[in-house]
Amino acid sequence: MINIVSLAGDGIGPEIMAAGLEVLAAAAEKIGFKYKIIEKPFGGAAIAACGTPLPDDTLQAAKGADAVLLAAIGSPEYNQAPMRPEQGLLALRKELKLFANIRPVQIFPALRHLSPLKEKQIDSVDFVLVRELTGGIYFGEHRLESEKAYDVNAYSAEEIRRILRKAFTIARQRRKKVTSIDKENVLATSKLWHQLADQVAAEFPDVTLEHQLVDSAAMLIITDPSRFDVIVTENLFGDILSDEASVLPGTLGVMPSASHAEDGPSLYEPIHGSAPDIAGQGIANPISMILSVAMMLRDSFAEAAGAEMIEKAVAESLNQGILTRDLGGTASTAQVTAAVVNNLN
Ligand code: NAD
Ligand code: IPM
Ligand code: MN
Repeated sequence: MINIVSLAGDGIGPEIMAAGLEVLAAAAEKIGFKYKIIEKPFGGAAIAACGTPLPDDTLQAAKGADAVLLAAIGSPEYNQAPMRPEQGLLALRKELKLFANIRPVQIFPALRHLSPLKEKQIDSVDFVLVRELTGGIYFGEHRLESEKAYDVNAYSAEEIRRILRKAFTIARQRRKKVTSIDKENVLATSKLWHQLADQVAAEFPDVTLEHQLVDSAAMLIITDPSRFDVIVTENLFGDILSDEASVLPGTLGVMPSASHAEDGPSLYEPIHGSAPDIAGQGIANPISMILSVAMMLRDSFAEAAGAEMIEKAVAESLNQGILTRDLGGTASTAQVTAAVVNNLN
C-alpha cells in the first residue's frame, strides 16, 4: 500500500489540505490509484500539541512515507517565540535531504487578463524555477548579538553541482535552456556557482547556458518572462524570485512545488505560506495545493494521466470563472474544490 503523509500545518493549511485530499480521492477513484493518508502534526500546530514544530513521530512518518504532502506553516503568534514553525520546515527539508525544489511558473489561459502584466508579455510564459533547498544562508551559522548579527552563506562544490545537474536534466526534457542566477560580482559562493555552471554545462552540450546576475534577473522576470525555460539558483535567491514570479499568473494561490532528494520520499507543497490574513474564512485559493497533488502523482507515482486529469480540471474550473478572491472572484475554497472535482474526467 502507498503511504502518503499529510502535514496540514497552520493558517489556511488545513483548509487547502482538505481541498487537495478531496481532489486526490476523486482522481484516484477514476484512475484506480490506491493509497493511505497518514495525518501528522507539523509547524505551529505541532508546537501547540507537542512542544516542537517537527515532532519525532512526524519526522519518522515522513521518512517512511512514499510521498509527503505539506500545506503551509507559520503563525504570527510564534513570531517572537524561541521556537518557530519555520524551523520545523527547514529541519524537515534537511532531514529528508530535499535539495531540489522545483517551482513551475505557467499562466492558465483563463488568467491571462488577470495578470498585472500586459497579455503579450506573458503570452508564452512557461518556465521552471529550480531552487537549491538544503544549503546556503538558510543553513549556515545564524548568530544574533545585541549590536551585531551574522548569517553565514556556505556552499560546497558538490551541493552546487548536484542542483545544476538537476536543472540541466530538466531542461533536456523542455526547451533546452538553463539560466543560472547568481551574484558573482560580489559573493564568493556565487563565483564558485558561476564557474561550476560552466563546467556542468559542458556535460550537457545539447543545453544552452545563460548567466544572469540576480538583480537584473529580478527585472527580467517581469519585463521578459518568456525568455526563461529553466532557472537555477541558490536557496535564498530562489525563495525571493519564486514569490516574484507568482505576480505573472496574478497570485501565489496557484503556485505548486515539488522537492526531491537523491532518493527517498519527495515532498509537495504550495510555494506560499499560511496566509494568516485570510485563514479560517474559507476563501483561500486551493489550486496551489491541488496542483501540488498533481505533481506528486506524476513525479512520485508515475501517474501522469491522473496528474493531467487534475491539471485539466483546474484549467476548466478557471475557464468557468470559478475564482477565489485573490483572482478577483467570489468563490469559496469549497466551491473551487467542488468545481475541480466535477471537472475531473
Ligand atoms: P504568505 O505566502 O502566507 O501570504 C502572502 C499573501 O498571499 C497574503 O496576502 C496571503 O493572503 C496571500 N496568499 C497566499 N496563499 C494564498 C492562497 N492559497 N489563496 C489566496 N491568497 C493567498 O506569506 P506571509 O504572509 O509573508 O507569511 C505568513 C506565514 O507563512 C509566515 O509565518 C511565513 O513564515 C510562513 N510561510 C510558510 C511557507 C510554507 O509553509 N512553505 C511559505 C512561505 C511563508
Ligand atoms: C518557502 C518559505 C520558507 C522558505 C520559509 C517559511 C522558511 O518562504 O517555502 O518559500 O523561506 O523557504
Ligand atoms: Mn518563500
